[in-house]
Amino acid sequence: MLSSNLTIGENGHLYFGGHDTVELAKQYGTPLYVMDEVRIRENMRMYLDAFKTHFGEGSKPLYASKANSFKRIYEIAKEEGMGIDVVSSGEVYTAMKAGFDLGDAYFHSNNKTDEDIAFAIDNGIGYFVVDNREELDMIDQIAGQKGKKQAILLRLTPGVDPHTYEAIATGKVDSKFGTAIETGQAREMVRHTLTLPNIDLVGFHCHVGSQVFGEDIYERASEIMLKFMHECEQEFSVKFEKLDMGGGYGVRYLDGDGYVDIPEAIGRVAKHMKAYCEHLGMDMPKIFMEPGRSIVADAGLTLYTVGTIKKITGYKNYVSIDGGMTDNPRYALYEAKYTVYHANKPEAEKDLIADVVGRCCESGDIIQPNVALPEPKRGDILAVCTTGAYNYSMASNYNRVARPAMVMVTPETSYVAVRRESLEDIVRNDV
Ligand code: LLP
Repeated sequence: MLSSNLTIGENGHLYFGGHDTVELAKQYGTPLYVMDEVRIRENMRMYLDAFKTHFGEGSKPLYASKANSFKRIYEIAKEEGMGIDVVSSGEVYTAMKAGFDLGDAYFHSNNKTDEDIAFAIDNGIGYFVVDNREELDMIDQIAGQKGKKQAILLRLTPGVDPHTYEAIATGKVDSKFGTAIETGQAREMVRHTLTLPNIDLVGFHCHVGSQVFGEDIYERASEIMLKFMHECEQEFSVKFEKLDMGGGYGVRYLDGDGYVDIPEAIGRVAKHMKAYCEHLGMDMPKIFMEPGRSIVADAGLTLYTVGTIKKITGYKNYVSIDGGMTDNPRYALYEAKYTVYHANKPEAEKDLIADVVGRCCESGDIIQPNVALPEPKRGDILAVCTTGAYNYSMASNYNRVARPAMVMVTPETSYVAVRRESLEDIVRNDV
C-alpha cells in the first residue's frame, strides 16, 4: 500500500489508521476528511528528534499550518512541542483559540495588512517573518505605538531553484516572496532594519519551495544564507541568532514516487551547515524549519461516495463522487497526482479505467484522471490518499457546496475535529 497506515481488513475493506474506512463513511457521512492522529504525532516527533540530535538546544521545527489549519492540530503541535508558522489573522486566531502560545509562532505572508500586524502584536506574536520594506516600516511604527519592541526575521530569496512545479517554487530571485540577496536589496534591508527603534532583528528566513526531492537543495540554500549572515555580522558588528530554512520536503502521492528519509536529510544538512560555519569562522545559528506537507499529508485520506458512472462508448468513462474541487482543488490547480482506492474492495481486479470527477459545474473539476479501479457502483466508497495537506486548507464553497467534516482516528477511537458545514452555514453571512 502507499503508506504504512493503510491496510486491508479481514472483510477486504480498506483500513486507515486501524479503522475500516467503509464504516467511517457510514458513521460520519461523505465526503469526509479522515486524519490519523498517530501519524501526525509520529511525523512531528520525527522532526523534533532529528532537530534534537543534529541541531541541539534552541533549534526547533515549526509546523507550517497553512498545510492544514484547525484548532485540534494546534493543540497537537503544542502537546508535541512544535512551534508554528502562521500566515494570516485567521490562522493566528485559530491557534489562539486552541490555546497555542503565540510566543512560539512565526507570522509569514508577503503582504501583511496593518490590521494583521496590529492584531498579531496585540496577541503577543513571537516573530514576524518580514517580507519587504513597507511591511517592515509598518511593523516598526505599530510596535512603537504599542510601546513594544518586536522580534523579526527577514525573509530572503537565496536564488536556488528547487526543481518543483512553478506555482510552489518560491526561493528564486524573481519570486513574489522575500527580498533578493543577489541584487543587493537584502543587504540594504538589513542596514535599514538595524536603524529601526522598535525592531529586534534576530535572524533570517528562506523557503525554496514545496514538494522538494532534490538532494542538495537545502545544503546549497544554507550556504548562501550563512554566507550572507556572516557578511552582515561583520559589516554591521552584530550577531544574529536564528536561521529558518523554511519547509518543503516532498511526500509520496503515488506508489512510484520517491521518498525523502527526513531524519537522514536533516542530519546531512546539519553536518553541511556545521562544516560551512567552521569554514567561515562563524558560530552556528539556531536552526528552524517549517514542514507542512510532510507533517500532515500521509496522515490524511478523503472518503467519497460514488454517484453517477458514465461510460461514453468508444471514448472514456467517468466515476462521479459526492465531493470534488471544492474539497480538493489540487488536480484542478496543479494537475496533482493522487492514489485512489475502491474502499469496499481495494484488492479486487481493476477492470475499469475512469476519470474520478467531482460534482461542480465545471469540466476541470477532476480529482484524478485515468484511474484504474475495480468497477464501482453507486453507493460504493472511494478513498483518495495523501490528502492531509493542502486539501481542507484550500477548500471552498464553490457552487455553494458545504465543506466536509474532518474526523480524527486514534487506535482506540474516532472523533470529529471539524464539523460538516450545514446549509445554514452556507447562508450565515448573507444579509
Ligand atoms: N514555509 C513557507 C514560508 C511556505 O511558504 C511553505 C509553503 C511552507 C513553509 C511549508 O511547505 P511544505 O513543507 O508544506 O512543503 N498549495 C500548494 C503548496 C503551497 C505551499 C506554500 N508554502 C500545494 O497544494 O501543493
